[in-house]
Amino acid sequence: MSVDLSTNIAGVNLSSYLMNASGPKCTTWEELEVIGQSASSAIVTKSCTMAFREGNPEPRYSDLPLGSIQSMGLPNLGYKAYLEMVPQLKALGKAVVVSISGFSIEDNIEMVSAFQNSDVDLIEVNFSCPNIPGKAQVAYDFEQVETALAALTVLGDKPIGIKLAPYFDMSHFIAMAEILKKFPVKFITCVNSIGNTLIIDPETESPIIKPKGGFGGLCGDYIKPIGLANVRAFRELLPESVQIIGVGGIKNGVDAFEYLLAGADAVQIATCFEKEGAVCFERIENELKAFMAQKGYTKLIDAKGKLKPL
Ligand code: SIN
Repeated sequence: MSVDLSTNIAGVNLSSYLMNASGPKCTTWEELEVIGQSASSAIVTKSCTMAFREGNPEPRYSDLPLGSIQSMGLPNLGYKAYLEMVPQLKALGKAVVVSISGFSIEDNIEMVSAFQNSDVDLIEVNFSCPNIPGKAQVAYDFEQVETALAALTVLGDKPIGIKLAPYFDMSHFIAMAEILKKFPVKFITCVNSIGNTLIIDPETESPIIKPKGGFGGLCGDYIKPIGLANVRAFRELLPESVQIIGVGGIKNGVDAFEYLLAGADAVQIATCFEKEGAVCFERIENELKAFMAQKGYTKLIDAKGKLKPL
């Protein structure tokens, strides 16, 4: 049985449900080219800022048995470098998703305006990086989210989405959904890493990463139940016109299928891509197809959002 994993985010056709997440291995042209040559259905850039950033001091990433912890601090080339790269990225034949992460509304207005005048397909505004010392995650400041969305969603016709932090209380899901409904936000990406977690090495008696006293974003299997819950909650609270890209702990076809049941329109892969490299996209795609075929599903819509009540 053949299974069709093609999907569409905000009118942009994607050959499959799987793409890279803004995060690992998507900062330089060389890294983005590897994604372009893989089975990832889109090329998602590292979140960019106004200027080049080295990022946080090393060590700032560590593998964990069930995922990873990182506090990269947005190392990136600066938005103008990605803007210049757009024609080359588009020439790789895939949808191009630029991720932007300004440190103020003014930064984000400048960057969104610039990419609105480019050939990128989708703009993902990252409101949820937990790793910049002294900067709170915008996604947890509902007033600031509303002000930012009012400013950013009037800058052009290219679809805008936002990358959200993980929420843990129903009141927060509801409050955020009410804000999103006021603006033409086309998609949300959820979730970013769980920020400000601490892993201690009992041998060295130190944290295992350096920035922020060892506090960093937790990724991978640890956060899959939180990612699933965020996708599910927002799918139930938002109209279908706001599409959802799921992220968090997807490392095989079954994980990807669970996000589909929760209501994801597409998923992004971060830690698994970091650990395994770009071959993960084809492997997970094949596993998802095999699992869906076994269940008699031939396309995403057969199972999308169809979590069965107990
Ligand atoms: C980082 O560069 O620190 C991670 C990006 C993010 O969490 O949004």
